[in-house]
Amino acid sequence: MPMPHNLMGGNLLCWMDVTSAICARRHAGCVCVTASVDKVSFDSPIRLGEIVTLTAKATRVFNTSMEIHIEVHAEGMDTTRRRKCNEAYFTFVGIDEWGNKLSLPPLTPVTEAEKLQFDSAQQRRELRLVLAGKMPANQSELLKTLFKGFSEEGK
Ligand SMILES: CC(C)(COP(=O)(O)OP(=O)(O)OC[C@H]1O[C@@H](n2cnc3c(N)ncnc32)[C@H](O)[C@@H]1OP(=O)(O)O)[C@@H](O)C(=O)NCCC(=O)NCCS
Repeated sequence: MPMPHNLMGGNLLCWMDVTSAICARRHAGCVCVTASVDKVSFDSPIRLGEIVTLTAKATRVFNTSMEIHIEVHAEGMDTTRRRKCNEAYFTFVGIDEWGNKLSLPPLTPVTEAEKLQFDSAQQRRELRLVLAGKMPANQSELLKTLFKGFSEEGK
């Protein structure tokens, strides 16, 4: 049960899903379904009456899928201080009206922050696909590099 007067986690997840889906659809120009949500932690409770702002941004398009980064901030009515409550990465897949997957328009990062997100998206993708059982661990460049590092440390 949620704490009295605190926003329930499931409600916030729903808002995050809807906001990310709108962001994905704006970039893709087609219906986008949620394929996965990376780790979400609830760092700061959101109280009744607080203003909640959700900000979603496309970080990278792969082929039929794309990654969206979303941040959640809250602020009280009586203060201008905003605090970050949580963030997450969602993956969406673009589909047509029959449910067939579609190749999505590419995304070119411009700012340094966008380039960092774009580059690291490849590693996040590998991890989520390995964890979902959709990519063999030995095909992940990130895991290969990590385990090479561990085995060299042990020598
Ligand atoms: C998401 C979905 C379209 C993927 O279809 P699929 O035939 O299993 O997918 P594929 O293995 O061909 O992969 C298609 C793309 O999705 C990505 N993908 C598949 N599973 C994924 C996962 N668990 N996490 C992240 N990306 C995933 C693949 O990497 C691939 O991306 P790419 O084309 O950019 O390389 C399908 O599983 C689906 O319709 N799921 C239900 C979606 C839904 O109802 N969402 C609402 C939640 S209730």
